Amino acid sequence: MPWRAAWEQALYGPAGFYRRPEGPAGHFRTSVHASPLFARAIVTLLSRVDTALGAPDVLDLVDVGSGRGELLVAVAAELPSALAARVRLTGVDVVPRPATLPAGIGWAAVPPAGTTGLLLAHEWLDDVPCEIAEVDDAGTVRQVLVDPADGTERFGVPVTGAAAEWLRRWWPLTEPGTRAEIGTARDAAWAEAVASVARGVALAVDYAHTAATRPPFGSLSGFAHGAEVDPVPDGTRNVTAHVAIDAVAAAAARSHEPVRCDQRTALRALGVHGTRPDRDLASADPAEYLRRLVAAGEGAELTDPTGLGAFEWLLQPVGIPAAGLLSGDGRR
Ligand SMILES: C[S@@+](CC[C@H](N)C(=O)[O-])C[C@H]1O[C@@H](n2cnc3c(N)ncnc32)[C@H](O)[C@@H]1O
Repeated sequence: MPWRAAWEQALYGPAGFYRRPEGPAGHFRTSVHASPLFARAIVTLLSRVDTALGAPDVLDLVDVGSGRGELLVAVAAELPSALAARVRLTGVDVVPRPATLPAGIGWAAVPPAGTTGLLLAHEWLDDVPCEIAEVDDAGTVRQVLVDPADGTERFGVPVTGAAAEWLRRWWPLTEPGTRAEIGTARDAAWAEAVASVARGVALAVDYAHTAATRPPFGSLSGFAHGAEVDPVPDGTRNVTAHVAIDAVAAAAARSHEPVRCDQRTALRALGVHGTRPDRDLASADPAEYLRRLVAAGEGAELTDPTGLGAFEWLLQPVGIPAAGLLSGDGRR
């Protein structure tokens, strides 16, 4: 099968990986699960978006690729009461509404039209299936076919049309053996998500590369039960690949002034740090010292430049300026 069809079936088919009862959280830990500080940072960003929008009557937070709604539940717990009264939380995922989701949180299969507020896609785009291309010994860029049972690959037809055009523009391949994940489906998915925002911000957070940092052999990988495994599209594991974030950003033509930075920079601008509390606090207020010490550990994990802190944040404002949403150093 072409990789995209096999990948689609493996993750989202009737017996697909993401339809398993344990959900993604049963197999890997994202920033969402690492600490409530992540949800708190999203609330801070949402408040800034609210200010830029002039405090609308209904302020949306739409979480695309919501898993089982874990982030929205955490956000609901962090909302200040002034904002809670106006915020509408909506999870978007391919799975039906989780039975345990609190009644106040909405659920949908596609991003609802007319969002006014913040649309977030956290570790979603890396799970949008792609075709894979590889250069054969004669120098022809070919589609790669895969056997879903064991992951065995062979060459398919030469890559042509929009896929070839995408490779030429974003990920040129010339050397035999080099390969790429073709990002057209991800660009289209993101453009559609951004198009659902009437006013506000679309934010994608993911592991990513740009033209300067493409991996020569692609980044296809598999994850199951907390460990990296071979990317066999058999439904027993997640199949994922880093996101060509520059291509994705360019695809959302409605947005202006996109802002990109790493998660370390973004979270610091939203008040998350790994700074340990002052030792003097330990004797003055031991409980508060302990609370801050735990927060510092979690903040350090979320901003670790060799781990979660290296994730890419892509903010695409729609109808509002980017200025002030993320302040701090290192924006690009
Ligand atoms: C890696 S999980 C991320 C879950 C959560 N956002 C987090 O970071 O913990 C990816 C999620 O995206 C969902 N997903 C994939 N394609 C989707 C689509 N086209 N529409 C909605 N959800 C999708 C999957 O079902 C899965 O729950």
